[in-house]
Amino acid sequence: ATPILYDCDPGHDDAIALVMAHRSPAIDLLGVTTTCGNAELERTTANAIRVLDFLGATDVPVAAGCARPLARPLVLGTADGPSGMDGSPYLPEPKRGPIAQHAVDFLAEKLAAAAEPMTVVATGPLTNIGLLVLKHPEVLSKIKELIWMGGVFYRKSEIITPTEFNAFCDPESLKIVLDSGVPITMVGLDVTMQVLIEADQYEELGRIDTQLGKLVMDWLRFYEKLHRNSMGVGGAMHDPLALALVIDPTLVRTRPVHIGVDLNGTYTFGATVADFWKERGEPDNARIAYEVDADRFFKLMFDLLR
Ligand code: BDR
Ligand code: CA
Repeated sequence: ATPILYDCDPGHDDAIALVMAHRSPAIDLLGVTTTCGNAELERTTANAIRVLDFLGATDVPVAAGCARPLARPLVLGTADGPSGMDGSPYLPEPKRGPIAQHAVDFLAEKLAAAAEPMTVVATGPLTNIGLLVLKHPEVLSKIKELIWMGGVFYRKSEIITPTEFNAFCDPESLKIVLDSGVPITMVGLDVTMQVLIEADQYEELGRIDTQLGKLVMDWLRFYEKLHRNSMGVGGAMHDPLALALVIDPTLVRTRPVHIGVDLNGTYTFGATVADFWKERGEPDNARIAYEVDADRFFKLMFDLLR
Protein backbone atom coordinates (compact mmCIF):
# COMPACT_ATOMS: atom_id res chain seq x y z
CA ALA A 1 0.00 0.00 0.00
CA THR A 2 1.12 3.56 -0.72
CA PRO A 3 1.56 5.58 2.49
CA ILE A 4 0.01 9.03 2.22
CA LEU A 5 -0.55 12.19 4.23
CA TYR A 6 -3.85 13.89 3.47
CA ASP A 7 -4.46 17.63 3.92
CA CYS A 8 -8.13 18.63 3.60
CA ASP A 9 -11.01 20.92 4.57
CA PRO A 10 -14.09 18.66 4.92
CA GLY A 11 -16.45 19.52 3.13
CA HIS A 12 -18.63 16.70 1.79
CA ASP A 13 -16.38 15.91 -1.15
CA ASP A 14 -13.26 15.91 1.05
CA ALA A 15 -15.18 13.54 3.34
CA ILE A 16 -15.84 11.11 0.49
CA ALA A 17 -12.15 11.24 -0.40
CA LEU A 18 -11.36 10.48 3.23
CA VAL A 19 -13.66 7.47 3.17
CA MET A 20 -11.95 6.21 0.01
CA ALA A 21 -8.47 6.74 1.48
CA HIS A 22 -9.37 4.79 4.57
CA ARG A 23 -11.09 1.94 2.76
CA SER A 24 -8.65 1.42 -0.09
CA PRO A 25 -6.23 -1.46 0.49
CA ALA A 26 -3.88 0.39 -1.89
CA ILE A 27 -3.53 3.29 0.56
CA ASP A 28 -2.00 3.49 4.00
CA LEU A 29 -3.41 6.69 5.53
CA LEU A 30 -0.68 7.86 7.93
CA GLY A 31 -2.36 11.05 9.01
CA VAL A 32 -4.84 13.76 8.19
CA THR A 33 -4.17 17.48 8.45
CA THR A 34 -6.83 20.14 8.23
CA THR A 35 -7.11 23.65 6.91
CA CYS A 36 -9.78 26.32 6.76
CA GLY A 37 -11.72 26.49 3.50
CA ASN A 38 -15.13 24.91 3.21
CA ALA A 39 -15.64 25.99 6.84
CA GLU A 40 -13.63 27.38 9.73
CA LEU A 41 -10.67 25.32 10.87
CA GLU A 42 -12.37 24.17 14.05
CA ARG A 43 -15.22 22.75 11.97
CA THR A 44 -13.14 21.14 9.23
CA THR A 45 -11.04 19.51 11.95
CA ALA A 46 -14.09 18.24 13.82
CA ASN A 47 -15.54 16.99 10.53
CA ALA A 48 -12.41 15.04 9.65
CA ILE A 49 -12.47 13.37 13.06
CA ARG A 50 -16.22 12.66 12.84
CA VAL A 51 -15.75 10.88 9.53
CA LEU A 52 -12.69 8.90 10.63
CA ASP A 53 -14.33 7.83 13.87
CA PHE A 54 -17.48 6.78 12.05
CA LEU A 55 -15.25 4.56 9.92
CA GLY A 56 -13.63 3.11 13.04
CA ALA A 57 -10.35 4.79 12.06
CA THR A 58 -9.86 6.18 15.56
CA ASP A 59 -6.12 5.58 15.36
CA VAL A 60 -5.55 7.88 12.36
CA PRO A 61 -4.09 11.09 13.82
CA VAL A 62 -5.66 14.40 12.84
CA ALA A 63 -3.54 17.54 13.14
CA ALA A 64 -5.16 20.94 12.80
CA GLY A 65 -3.37 23.46 10.63
CA CYS A 66 -3.83 27.06 9.62
CA ALA A 67 -7.00 28.91 10.58
CA ARG A 68 -6.58 31.54 7.87
CA PRO A 69 -4.78 31.99 4.57
CA LEU A 70 -1.17 33.16 4.55
CA ALA A 71 -1.69 36.70 3.29
CA ARG A 72 -5.39 37.28 2.74
CA PRO A 73 -8.49 37.55 4.84
CA LEU A 74 -10.32 34.31 5.54
CA VAL A 75 -12.85 33.26 2.90
CA LEU A 76 -15.18 30.40 3.66
CA GLY A 77 -17.01 28.22 1.16
CA THR A 78 -20.77 28.23 1.18
CA ALA A 79 -21.55 25.07 -0.77
CA ASP A 80 -21.40 22.73 2.24
CA GLY A 81 -23.36 24.79 4.75
CA PRO A 82 -21.90 26.68 7.74
CA SER A 83 -20.69 23.53 9.51
CA GLY A 84 -18.85 22.44 6.37
CA MET A 85 -20.90 19.25 6.39
CA ASP A 86 -24.51 20.25 6.90
CA GLY A 87 -25.56 17.16 4.97
CA SER A 88 -24.76 14.87 7.89
CA PRO A 89 -26.65 16.07 10.94
CA TYR A 90 -26.67 12.55 12.43
CA LEU A 91 -22.91 12.11 12.50
CA PRO A 92 -21.95 12.48 16.18
CA GLU A 93 -19.66 15.24 17.34
CA PRO A 94 -16.10 13.94 17.86
CA LYS A 95 -15.07 12.29 21.10
CA ARG A 96 -11.42 13.10 20.53
CA GLY A 97 -9.66 16.29 19.57
CA PRO A 98 -6.83 16.86 17.11
CA ILE A 99 -3.32 15.98 18.28
CA ALA A 100 -1.39 18.75 20.03
CA GLN A 101 1.09 19.20 17.18
CA HIS A 102 0.39 21.77 14.44
CA ALA A 103 -0.37 20.24 11.02
CA VAL A 104 2.73 21.75 9.45
CA ASP A 105 5.06 20.28 12.07
CA PHE A 106 3.23 16.96 11.92
CA LEU A 107 3.71 16.82 8.16
CA ALA A 108 7.39 17.70 8.53
CA GLU A 109 7.94 15.04 11.17
CA LYS A 110 6.22 12.31 9.16
CA LEU A 111 8.09 13.22 6.00
CA ALA A 112 11.43 13.35 7.80
CA ALA A 113 10.79 9.93 9.31
CA ALA A 114 9.75 8.29 6.04
CA ALA A 115 12.22 5.82 4.56
CA GLU A 116 11.18 6.72 1.01
CA PRO A 117 9.76 9.96 -0.44
CA MET A 118 6.01 10.05 0.13
CA THR A 119 2.82 11.10 -1.60
CA VAL A 120 0.93 14.03 -0.11
CA VAL A 121 -2.66 14.65 -1.19
CA ALA A 122 -4.20 18.09 -0.65
CA THR A 123 -7.80 18.99 -1.39
CA GLY A 124 -8.23 22.39 0.20
CA PRO A 125 -6.54 25.78 0.06
CA LEU A 126 -2.76 25.20 0.13
CA THR A 127 -1.96 27.19 3.29
CA ASN A 128 -0.53 24.28 5.27
CA ILE A 129 1.65 23.12 2.39
CA GLY A 130 2.79 26.68 1.67
CA LEU A 131 3.79 27.07 5.29
CA LEU A 132 5.54 23.69 5.20
CA VAL A 133 7.65 24.98 2.31
CA LEU A 134 8.59 28.07 4.32
CA LYS A 135 9.12 26.44 7.68
CA HIS A 136 10.56 23.02 6.83
CA PRO A 137 12.37 23.26 3.47
CA GLU A 138 14.61 20.38 4.60
CA VAL A 139 11.78 17.84 4.18
CA LEU A 140 10.63 18.89 0.71
CA SER A 141 12.85 16.33 -1.02
CA LYS A 142 10.84 13.71 0.88
CA ILE A 143 7.68 14.62 -1.06
CA LYS A 144 7.52 12.26 -4.00
CA GLU A 145 4.41 13.92 -5.36
CA LEU A 146 1.87 16.44 -4.18
CA ILE A 147 -1.52 15.68 -5.71
CA TRP A 148 -3.70 18.76 -5.34
CA MET A 149 -7.30 19.38 -6.24
CA GLY A 150 -7.30 22.96 -7.37
CA GLY A 151 -6.98 25.45 -10.15
CA VAL A 152 -8.78 25.56 -13.46
CA PHE A 153 -6.90 25.27 -16.73
CA TYR A 154 -9.13 24.71 -19.73
CA ARG A 155 -11.97 27.21 -19.62
CA LYS A 156 -14.08 25.83 -22.40
CA SER A 157 -17.45 26.30 -20.83
CA GLU A 158 -19.49 29.08 -19.33
CA ILE A 159 -20.06 27.09 -16.18
CA ILE A 160 -16.36 27.29 -15.36
CA THR A 161 -15.15 30.19 -13.23
CA PRO A 162 -11.75 31.83 -13.91
CA THR A 163 -10.72 31.09 -10.32
CA GLU A 164 -11.24 27.78 -8.61
CA PHE A 165 -12.10 27.99 -4.87
CA ASN A 166 -8.99 26.35 -3.34
CA ALA A 167 -6.71 28.56 -5.44
CA PHE A 168 -8.80 31.68 -4.80
CA CYS A 169 -8.72 31.24 -1.00
CA ASP A 170 -4.94 31.31 -0.75
CA PRO A 171 -3.16 32.14 -4.00
CA GLU A 172 0.05 33.18 -2.19
CA SER A 173 0.45 29.70 -0.71
CA LEU A 174 -0.18 28.21 -4.12
CA LYS A 175 2.58 30.36 -5.60
CA ILE A 176 4.99 29.34 -2.85
CA VAL A 177 4.25 25.68 -3.54
CA LEU A 178 4.55 26.12 -7.31
CA ASP A 179 7.93 27.81 -6.88
CA SER A 180 9.20 25.20 -4.40
CA GLY A 181 10.28 22.53 -6.84
CA VAL A 182 7.98 19.94 -5.23
CA PRO A 183 6.57 17.68 -7.98
CA ILE A 184 2.92 18.67 -8.15
CA THR A 185 0.01 17.13 -10.01
CA MET A 186 -2.97 19.42 -10.25
CA VAL A 187 -6.47 18.14 -10.71
CA GLY A 188 -8.38 21.21 -11.81
CA LEU A 189 -12.01 22.12 -11.78
CA ASP A 190 -12.35 21.70 -15.53
CA VAL A 191 -11.55 17.99 -15.08
CA THR A 192 -13.39 17.34 -11.81
CA MET A 193 -16.55 18.88 -13.22
CA GLN A 194 -16.64 16.09 -15.75
CA VAL A 195 -17.10 13.63 -12.89
CA LEU A 196 -20.69 14.29 -11.88
CA ILE A 197 -23.04 12.33 -9.69
CA GLU A 198 -26.16 11.85 -11.79
CA ALA A 199 -29.18 9.54 -11.83
CA ASP A 200 -27.13 6.41 -12.61
CA GLN A 201 -24.75 7.04 -9.75
CA TYR A 202 -27.57 7.72 -7.28
CA GLU A 203 -29.14 4.45 -8.32
CA GLU A 204 -25.90 2.58 -7.78
CA LEU A 205 -25.33 4.28 -4.42
CA GLY A 206 -28.90 3.49 -3.40
CA ARG A 207 -28.07 -0.21 -3.79
CA ILE A 208 -25.34 0.03 -1.13
CA ASP A 209 -27.53 -0.87 1.80
CA THR A 210 -25.16 -0.04 4.65
CA GLN A 211 -24.85 2.80 7.13
CA LEU A 212 -21.95 4.16 5.11
CA GLY A 213 -23.96 3.98 1.89
CA LYS A 214 -26.78 5.94 3.52
CA LEU A 215 -24.41 8.52 4.97
CA VAL A 216 -22.75 9.17 1.62
CA MET A 217 -26.21 9.41 0.04
CA ASP A 218 -27.16 12.13 2.58
CA TRP A 219 -23.93 13.98 1.85
CA LEU A 220 -24.43 13.88 -1.89
CA ARG A 221 -28.06 14.92 -1.88
CA PHE A 222 -27.20 17.95 0.22
CA TYR A 223 -24.02 18.80 -1.64
CA GLU A 224 -25.62 18.46 -5.03
CA LYS A 225 -28.38 20.95 -4.28
CA LEU A 226 -26.06 23.71 -3.11
CA HIS A 227 -23.62 23.15 -5.95
CA ARG A 228 -26.38 23.25 -8.50
CA ASN A 229 -27.46 26.62 -7.12
CA SER A 230 -24.00 28.15 -7.32
CA MET A 231 -22.35 26.36 -10.25
CA GLY A 232 -25.22 25.29 -12.46
CA VAL A 233 -24.31 21.59 -12.23
CA GLY A 234 -24.35 19.44 -9.14
CA GLY A 235 -22.35 16.73 -7.46
CA ALA A 236 -18.86 17.08 -8.96
CA MET A 237 -16.43 14.63 -7.36
CA HIS A 238 -13.57 17.13 -7.08
CA ASP A 239 -11.60 15.83 -4.12
CA PRO A 240 -12.41 12.12 -4.53
CA LEU A 241 -10.92 12.24 -8.03
CA ALA A 242 -7.66 13.75 -6.76
CA LEU A 243 -7.44 11.12 -4.02
CA ALA A 244 -8.25 8.33 -6.48
CA LEU A 245 -5.09 9.11 -8.44
CA VAL A 246 -3.05 7.58 -5.63
CA ILE A 247 -4.83 4.31 -6.35
CA ASP A 248 -4.95 4.62 -10.13
CA PRO A 249 -3.03 7.46 -11.78
CA THR A 250 -4.31 6.36 -15.20
CA LEU A 251 -7.80 7.72 -14.41
CA VAL A 252 -6.57 11.00 -15.88
CA ARG A 253 -4.08 11.99 -18.53
CA THR A 254 -1.61 14.63 -17.42
CA ARG A 255 0.84 16.95 -19.13
CA PRO A 256 3.69 19.08 -17.81
CA VAL A 257 3.34 22.84 -18.12
CA HIS A 258 4.33 26.08 -16.40
CA ILE A 259 1.53 27.31 -14.17
CA GLY A 260 1.45 30.91 -13.06
CA VAL A 261 -0.96 32.17 -10.44
CA ASP A 262 -2.45 35.63 -10.61
CA LEU A 263 -1.95 37.47 -7.32
CA ASN A 264 -3.00 40.96 -8.36
CA GLY A 265 -5.98 40.78 -10.70
CA THR A 266 -9.04 42.68 -9.62
CA TYR A 267 -11.38 39.95 -10.81
CA THR A 268 -8.89 37.19 -11.47
CA PHE A 269 -6.67 36.80 -8.42
CA GLY A 270 -6.19 33.13 -7.78
CA ALA A 271 -6.49 32.32 -11.49
CA THR A 272 -4.11 29.57 -12.57
CA VAL A 273 -2.63 30.39 -15.94
CA ALA A 274 -1.17 27.50 -17.95
CA ASP A 275 1.53 28.49 -20.44
CA PHE A 276 0.61 25.87 -23.03
CA TRP A 277 2.45 27.67 -25.85
CA LYS A 278 5.58 28.24 -23.75
CA GLU A 279 5.37 31.97 -24.33
CA ARG A 280 6.69 32.94 -20.91
CA GLY A 281 9.77 30.78 -21.30
CA GLU A 282 9.59 29.54 -17.72
CA PRO A 283 10.29 25.90 -16.91
CA ASP A 284 7.41 23.48 -16.31
CA ASN A 285 6.49 23.47 -12.63
CA ALA A 286 3.49 21.15 -12.54
CA ARG A 287 1.64 18.38 -14.28
CA ILE A 288 -2.00 19.11 -14.89
CA ALA A 289 -4.77 16.63 -15.48
CA TYR A 290 -6.61 17.24 -18.74
CA GLU A 291 -8.72 14.19 -19.49
CA VAL A 292 -10.60 11.87 -17.17
CA ASP A 293 -12.24 8.48 -17.40
CA ALA A 294 -15.29 9.23 -15.25
CA ASP A 295 -16.79 5.75 -15.61
CA ARG A 296 -13.67 4.08 -14.31
CA PHE A 297 -13.49 6.60 -11.47
CA PHE A 298 -17.05 5.80 -10.39
CA LYS A 299 -16.37 2.08 -10.56
CA LEU A 300 -13.45 2.57 -8.19
CA MET A 301 -15.45 4.83 -5.88
CA PHE A 302 -18.40 2.45 -5.61
CA ASP A 303 -16.12 -0.56 -5.13
CA LEU A 304 -14.59 1.22 -2.15
CA LEU A 305 -17.96 2.21 -0.68
CA ARG A 306 -19.43 -1.28 -1.08
C1 BDR B 1 -12.94 22.56 -4.22
O1 BDR B 1 -13.54 23.53 -3.36
C2 BDR B 1 -14.23 22.91 -2.31
O2 BDR B 1 -15.51 23.43 -2.19
C3 BDR B 1 -14.24 21.44 -2.58
O3 BDR B 1 -14.09 20.71 -1.38
C4 BDR B 1 -13.08 21.23 -3.52
O4 BDR B 1 -11.90 20.96 -2.80
C5 BDR B 1 -13.59 22.65 -5.58
O5 BDR B 1 -13.41 23.91 -6.16
CA1 CA C 1 -11.90 20.48 -0.45
